Amino acid sequence: MTQRTVIRGGLVITAAEETYADVLVEGGTIAALAASDSDCARAWTADRTIDATGKYVIPGGVDGHTHLELPFGGTSSSDTFETGTRAAAWGGTTTIVDFAVQPRGQAAREGLDAWHAKAEGRCAVDYAFHMILSDVNEGVLKEMDLLVGEGVTSFKLFMAYPGVFYSDDGQILRAMQRASGNGGLIMMHAENGIAIDVLVEQALAAGRTDPRHHGEVRKALLEAEATHRAIQLARVAGSPLYVVHVSAQEAVAELAQARTAGLPVFGETCPQYLFLSTDNLAEPGFEGAKYVCSTPLRPHEHQAALWRGLRTDALQVVSTDHCPFCFAGQKELGRGDFSKIPNGLPGIENRMDLLHQAVVDGHLTRRRWIEIACAAPARMFGLAPRKGTIAPGADADIVVYDPQARQTLSARTHHMNVDYSAYEGKEITGQVETVLSRGDVVIDRRTFTGRAGHGRYIPRTTCQYLP
Ligand code: URP
Ligand code: ZN
Ligand code: ZN
Ligand code: ZN
Repeated sequence: MTQRTVIRGGLVITAAEETYADVLVEGGTIAALAASDSDCARAWTADRTIDATGKYVIPGGVDGHTHLELPFGGTSSSDTFETGTRAAAWGGTTTIVDFAVQPRGQAAREGLDAWHAKAEGRCAVDYAFHMILSDVNEGVLKEMDLLVGEGVTSFKLFMAYPGVFYSDDGQILRAMQRASGNGGLIMMHAENGIAIDVLVEQALAAGRTDPRHHGEVRKALLEAEATHRAIQLARVAGSPLYVVHVSAQEAVAELAQARTAGLPVFGETCPQYLFLSTDNLAEPGFEGAKYVCSTPLRPHEHQAALWRGLRTDALQVVSTDHCPFCFAGQKELGRGDFSKIPNGLPGIENRMDLLHQAVVDGHLTRRRWIEIACAAPARMFGLAPRKGTIAPGADADIVVYDPQARQTLSARTHHMNVDYSAYEGKEITGQVETVLSRGDVVIDRRTFTGRAGHGRYIPRTTCQYLP
């Protein structure tokens, strides 16, 4: 028999509205919503009742940018699909889109098969894949059509990391042209990697080897320049463009201008750029290595532009770019040479809470919080209407969120497989209480009740922001 669950008495918040409603879940999907005091809702019988009085009832988070078990920087990101998706559940995220990587010199298919093998049977929440193209050639261009057809509908290209993931402008243009024909979405790491490498070499030669120099050489202007170039290339190709991990105010301005001109250009930022700054990169005793990621953290003046961009829709999505490396043994690879510090920050567990704190702090409305963390990434990456909202027919991925609870973020209490927190000691108002993933309770009043292998692979449709 189908399990029936009713979530009673909470404030249901979606990107579109806020209402006091009871939510009826049948099996893995949402069957109905009805006003909490209505005869209709009172008549519902259920196997399980969850009392959400005084709580928010929100869609499970959709994290559109994660790197689990990614070989990178001479090591591998420290969360596996098992530990990373469990931490996601703890943090109220019920769908992730991870980046499968085309190995250089091989087919994209090889990379996708490898990512399926890593993830299958291990995830606590649902997952999907983007594809990183690290070697755009004729064969890969043809593969793009097949991948779109089977639900891998977005492709990340890098203007950074020469010799690793880098594509030149010709390769980028060809991939964009292909995407314009097959409905794929090009995601861009927009930094001028060729110029940055010159500055890296010069900094190291001058003895400027500390982590803070990572931020200094990866200049905001070189992010803005690459963002501008990516927009123009997409325009020439007639393709949409999604710029990942935007951190520079000058890059936000490029996106805003393109959107004002009516171009199908989208932008993502991440909590680290909203809450952390070059002050963290400058922490003494090599502690700054904990904050090395690309694009880099910026002086905090940039944060106001990012918040404004999120409010005015110059930016549509907040993802984590979760790419954790332990301080011990991994970040330490770059002692004496910042360019050898593996790039990436942990955060898959913290995103929903940090963005709720932004609501408390007055940066965002509650509905915008749900928009940028759930609804927009679901539509952007072809996961709607199953994911990102609370509506009849949608997957029952639901978070009961306590807006009054107080917590302090710390590596001592988090569930990510990494030995530090980028937000150590940060006080947050609000906490995930209970999480449902397709109707199964995976976090029950702050106890993990899920299992590795509950999470399913979700093939995606194409970007739903496009006609
Ligand atoms: O520093 C970062 N962002 N590491 C992950 C790889 C990428 O560029 O997204
Ligand atoms: Zn990137
Ligand atoms: Zn400062
Ligand atoms: Zn990334």
